[in-house]
Amino acid sequence: MDIWKPVALVTDISPDTGTLRVVHEGEGVCLYDLQGEICATQDRCPHGNASLADGYLEDGTIECPLHQGVFDIRTGKPQCPPVTTDLRRYEVRVEADTVYLKAE
Ligand code: FES
Repeated sequence: MDIWKPVALVTDISPDTGTLRVVHEGEGVCLYDLQGEICATQDRCPHGNASLADGYLEDGTIECPLHQGVFDIRTGKPQCPPVTTDLRRYEVRVEADTVYLKAE
């Protein structure tokens, strides 16, 4: 049976940035509000020490604030240099405005 852990309310996600950094099972995770669709990836950019929650969200992509690497949030795939590594993605469930992430 799958275990889901509550990490935030949908309304905790900043309407300005569309992102929120949370901690899930000891790891930093970035939540994204893609016009009502909630997604989650690792928060730390795989290229360096940057929080993607501080990045720029546009059209389902997140641009890293440090060197402007871009990732597709739904697939985790890097879209342009200097990033070359996929983001880890997390399964998300939303119930009654609470965001749950699947536990390992
Ligand atoms: Fe994210 Fe370099 S730290 S692109």
